[in-house]
Amino acid sequence: MTSISFPTTRMRRLRYNPVLRKLVRENFISPDRLILPLFVRAGKGVRQPIPSMPGQFQLSIDEFAKEVEEAAELGLGGLILFGIPETKDAIGSDAMSDNGIIAKAIRTAKTIAKNRLLIITDVCFCEYTDHGHCGVLRETSLGRSDVDNDTTLENLVRQVIVQARAGVDMVAPSGMIDGMVGEIRRGLDDEGFTNIPIMSYAAKYASAFYGPFRDAAESAPKSGDRRSYQMDPAASAAQALREIQLDINEGADIIMIKPALAYLDIIRLAKEHFDGIPIAAYNVSGEYSMVKAAAERGWIDEKAVVTESLTAMSRAGASIIITYWAKDIASNLIHYTNQT
Ligand code: PBG
Repeated sequence: MTSISFPTTRMRRLRYNPVLRKLVRENFISPDRLILPLFVRAGKGVRQPIPSMPGQFQLSIDEFAKEVEEAAELGLGGLILFGIPETKDAIGSDAMSDNGIIAKAIRTAKTIAKNRLLIITDVCFCEYTDHGHCGVLRETSLGRSDVDNDTTLENLVRQVIVQARAGVDMVAPSGMIDGMVGEIRRGLDDEGFTNIPIMSYAAKYASAFYGPFRDAAESAPKSGDRRSYQMDPAASAAQALREIQLDINEGADIIMIKPALAYLDIIRLAKEHFDGIPIAAYNVSGEYSMVKAAAERGWIDEKAVVTESLTAMSRAGASIIITYWAKDIASNLIHYTNQT
């Protein structure tokens, strides 16, 4: 640190004109580092608006196909897919079937995208189970049911193998199930899918910011909450580092922190501790809907707020951002390059 002070040092010197400001910038948003989440459901010609997420839709395969083409043309880095099955059951069978909604979505997406953008799947069971929890339930001695960790691991492996056979480019386990990354890695490798990377939701918090997503994916738990598997927001930041370290040890190729804005400190810590592994931030549904709602009322400038928020995620240390604004950004509705 230089210690020379005013008047020799004038910080405003580098801010006086726009060209100079751009010259000294270091944090950018760019479409090829953005991932767009999409929700796929059964039917034909379905483009069902999600009321709590203006501008986002549940799409049938044919409508989804159009989105894939558009995303590829816009130069996005990838898509992360969420399936909404026609029928849900206690174990989430649809997710483990070659004819399930997500397998169909992957095959369609790969046919269209080829290698122009990455087709990624969220690996979890909450959208597929009738109880809405992220795995198999079992009664506990506490007189309530809870996700059974090790049975769920077996099903997660079945789920990724189905996705791998359908052609998925990368898998993103999101259930915060202990051992999930290692089991998935072993499962993929045993079947010869050694080149499919794992982007692990490594530090994922039990967050109220997922509210709108649960409408979108129809995945709200019917009873209870996710606090026995997702992290406690009030836990020490060191616990997040342990979670991330474990996932790296188990073979994660990319680590994700979720949500993004309320957890920028965790992104920064991860960047400092684990430089050398790419870090992704999930700009979640609640972060999206809050901005949309305020912008609709004319209370804030959506474009400016989005640019500022995503820049903050990048500055904190995320090189990859998963965001519902990915298309808006790539199509220049929201400024992403050095335009301001
Ligand atoms: C779990 C999953 C969730 C989100 C992504 N993957 C929901 C949850 O954990 O309850 C939330 C994403 C968002 O809020 O945008 N399959």
